[in-house]
Amino acid sequence: MDYRRTRLSDLFRTPPGTEASAYGWVKTRRDSKGVSFVQLNDGSTFADFQVVVDAGVIPEETLKGITTGASVRFDGVVVESPGSGQAVEMKATGVEVFGGADPTSYPLQKKGATMEFLREIAHLRMRGNTFGAVTRVRNRAAWAVHRFFQDRGFAWIHTPIITASDCEGAGAMFAVTTLLEHEPGSHPSEVSDGGAFRLKSTKPEEDFFGKPAYLTVSGQLNVETFAHGLTNVYTFGPTFRAENSNTPRHLAEFWMIEPEMAFCSIEGDMNLAEEFVREVIGDVMEHCAPDLEFFNQRVEPELLTTLRHVVESGFERMTYTEAVRLLESSGETWEFPVSWGSDLQSEHERWLTEKKVGRPVILTDYPKEIKAFYMYGNEDGKTVRAMDVLVPRIGELIGGSQREDRLDVLESRIDEQGLDKSAYWWYLDLRRFGAVPHAGFGLGFERLIMYLTGLKNIRDTIPFHRTPGQAEF
Ligand code: 4AD
Ligand code: MG
Repeated sequence: MDYRRTRLSDLFRTPPGTEASAYGWVKTRRDSKGVSFVQLNDGSTFADFQVVVDAGVIPEETLKGITTGASVRFDGVVVESPGSGQAVEMKATGVEVFGGADPTSYPLQKKGATMEFLREIAHLRMRGNTFGAVTRVRNRAAWAVHRFFQDRGFAWIHTPIITASDCEGAGAMFAVTTLLEHEPGSHPSEVSDGGAFRLKSTKPEEDFFGKPAYLTVSGQLNVETFAHGLTNVYTFGPTFRAENSNTPRHLAEFWMIEPEMAFCSIEGDMNLAEEFVREVIGDVMEHCAPDLEFFNQRVEPELLTTLRHVVESGFERMTYTEAVRLLESSGETWEFPVSWGSDLQSEHERWLTEKKVGRPVILTDYPKEIKAFYMYGNEDGKTVRAMDVLVPRIGELIGGSQREDRLDVLESRIDEQGLDKSAYWWYLDLRRFGAVPHAGFGLGFERLIMYLTGLKNIRDTIPFHRTPGQAEF
């Protein structure tokens, strides 16, 4: 057996009369008057491929084993399909069953299983319609991300996953340590003499990296160094946040795309963000049409209309101050009160983009108190050159800014936020040697997949989700 063989997506385009083999997992088998219809899927495309088995072609015993979830190869001839829906089907002449799936215990049987149930069988859910479609959309979107940047001469930088510096200054990081010596599967609560866990030392300098280290919350600080040399760069990798936000829009492990551009201001940053979102969406619409059609029918009836709208129309731009004025005079009752200086909540972001503007909005110039230390300070002394892209249904999709490139201003911002300046010596060096106006942003990849699929819970957009209390699979 070779991987270079016809997939079911190819069989759909094979002319009638061709002898072929069809490999896949059985979705359903239906028997009627001397003939059986088997729907096969191998993940290569959304549609199931139909195989028709006439009575007597396959021994009765073998046919009985061709149940939902079984893995099989049918040999036969591609013929014109008399039914509507698909152009061709296969008339079987033989079969090999690789692995059966006991109908009394195979969990992925019934159609219309809830998303919550599918999360409990995340090791099998990729065989179903929804998660197969999510996976293809995610794959295509990742490809489109790289294509977008590579087409424009951006270099892909592999920033580290383990770091000693806190990018966002939010203090929600996972520690990485070998000071806790343990037996596999044991837990720190078992620290005791002779217990499964032992504390080797309490001194940070004796830890693996010689100082406290964490899983990164963002590759930005590292990617900024490369922008000061390669000009246009991006990183695309996993990031980690230990914030205990058990919401449908937060993961503890998520993927982020972070471009960074030297000789670029906040305007260029906004232009890139808008171009990027529109092009990636357009690419996925072109290459995953059957999958998006399914999401449009079964998950979010407005999906295709809104995606098309985003691709075709520009984003609105307004300042934070203007947004707060609109929110205050909206006449809505908010769960979280809004006033100048407070961080916008999801309800505010969604009202602005869904109700007020009706398309994506880029908000700029936020109060410096609610944003990270590295953002460029405006002349008013109160706001920074931040920009967040808000989109309908999701709220914040992108967070970015022009970076503070003035050494003295950056140093006082680090002090103001109570951070340890010495830890950022190399980051400050970028402002000492060849400093340049530069800007970038971070797009949460799973938020983009939510937007593309209409799915309401971010846990259904990533192969295996990590959230508070959840690290199964
Ligand atoms: O706004 P954030 O925190 O920005 C940064 O990390 C910057 N360092 C990015 C940069 O300028 N290079 O995060 C960026 C985006 C958010 O807009 C959101 O889409 C996503 O990352 N995000 C999350 N996605 C899933 N789960 C979480 N817990 C997320 N936190 C942020
Ligand atoms: Mg943000």
